[in-house]
Amino acid sequence: MARSTDDAADRTLKERHRAMWALGDYPSIAAEIIPELGTILVEACQVGPGDAVLDVAAGAGNAAIPAALAGAEVVACDLTPELLEAGRAAAEHYGLRITWREADAENLPYANRAFDTVMSCVGVMFAPHHQASADELVRVCRPGGTIGLLSWTPDGFIGQMFAAMKPYAPPPPPGSQPPPLWGSLDHVRALFGERVSDVSGDLRTLRVEAFAEPVEFREYFKRGYGPTIAVYRNIADDPDRVAALDHDLDELARRFGHGAGRLRMEWEYLLFTARVV
Ligand SMILES: C[S@@+](CC[C@H](N)C(=O)[O-])C[C@H]1O[C@@H](n2cnc3c(N)ncnc32)[C@H](O)[C@@H]1O
Repeated sequence: MARSTDDAADRTLKERHRAMWALGDYPSIAAEIIPELGTILVEACQVGPGDAVLDVAAGAGNAAIPAALAGAEVVACDLTPELLEAGRAAAEHYGLRITWREADAENLPYANRAFDTVMSCVGVMFAPHHQASADELVRVCRPGGTIGLLSWTPDGFIGQMFAAMKPYAPPPPPGSQPPPLWGSLDHVRALFGERVSDVSGDLRTLRVEAFAEPVEFREYFKRGYGPTIAVYRNIADDPDRVAALDHDLDELARRFGHGAGRLRMEWEYLLFTARVV
């Protein structure tokens, strides 16, 4: 049985997360900044024609769509219906049939062993109770099936962006864990334990050259990325703190930028695959 997290506090927390991810324009960020990550994950999972694939925390289908293009039978689930709606429209554009469903990664509405591949592209890492999510990923994957996860690392750019934003955010609720921990192979190994074999964990980077300079990166994320918008809302009545966060995000982009001229960054992620025993 799925571990039940169905209590009032958890529902309130998930409502907050859902509202946060609906802020701004996450589908455009996925399409403009990280589109290749979905394909990288699908290839790492060796998804093929006819495979039953579940994309968890699928957003607008960054991984679900390439999996469907590879011929798989894809179910895409996510907490945020607005993102699923964007995914549905994108899939229609490609003439793909994907099943879109609202679901919490910590309590998946699927039968045990229902999928050949269970994957998540920078998605499940944002569910707050890591063990509950890991247990669900294993539960719905068949023995011999593949779990594939692509996650930002703690020391990489997005991990460091969350670290930079933390002092300006409300304290996290007790029991919730930081998303970039999923980018640590030791952490992920511990979550799955002996329930998986053939573990592979590759540290890789995504080259990002979309921004001419730090301020352009900062303003793009302030406009479009739910977690960044939410943090700025939290300090909106304190102009000094807004200016301080602006400064910290600019510094972050400067720290990661290299090369002359246009800002060139490498964003580190962990590409994890394993077989369910
Ligand atoms: C950074 S986005 C990644 C979306 C997509 N996988 C991609 O590659 O673009 C993170 C996603 O996690 C989803 N999410 C956050 N918490 C979740 C939860 N508890 N259960 C399911 N989805 C969740 C958000 O709604 C959002 O779509």
